[in-house]
Amino acid sequence: MMSTLKQISAAAIATVLLVLQAHAQDAADGQRLFQQRCGACHQVDSTRNGVGPHLQGVIGRTAGGVESFRYSPAMQGSGINWDAAQLDIFLTNPAGLVRGTRMTQRFAKADERKAIIEFLATR
Ligand code: HEC
Repeated sequence: MMSTLKQISAAAIATVLLVLQAHAQDAADGQRLFQQRCGACHQVDSTRNGVGPHLQGVIGRTAGGVESFRYSPAMQGSGINWDAAQLDIFLTNPAGLVRGTRMTQRFAKADERKAIIEFLATR
């Protein structure tokens, strides 16, 4: 009886460790993907703006919220509060969510969007 319980809890711990590893892996992938897909226009480890506004702390931020960046009127007036779900919709097709936005790149791969968004949540 006792050994069965021990086996079960060992298995549970192993599962938790696997899940944690998977998350760490996602975040590492997300960082690499962010640099590749977004890094030309967006900084996330500094508050410097480039072609696009910096994305530090973007999750929870109001769209158009970086005062030092000159947004399109569309983004400024969108009234969006960025969370993971809205970011996913935006990245899939920016103009579909914010008609008239100056960000035009679409990111079709759901797993890449997910990894990038998980990475952004850590910054
Ligand atoms: C070619 C340049 C370019 C690339 C690449 C790019 N963006 Fe953008 N992004 C912009 C511009 C320009 C804006 C401002 C849009 C506006 O004002 O309408 C913007 C705006 C945003 C916003 C809104 C920010 C805010 O403060 O409201 C988010 C979020 C965003 N981008 C995320 C991303 C992510 C994540 C990637 C990569 C998957 C990415 N962008 C790739 C140029 C780019």
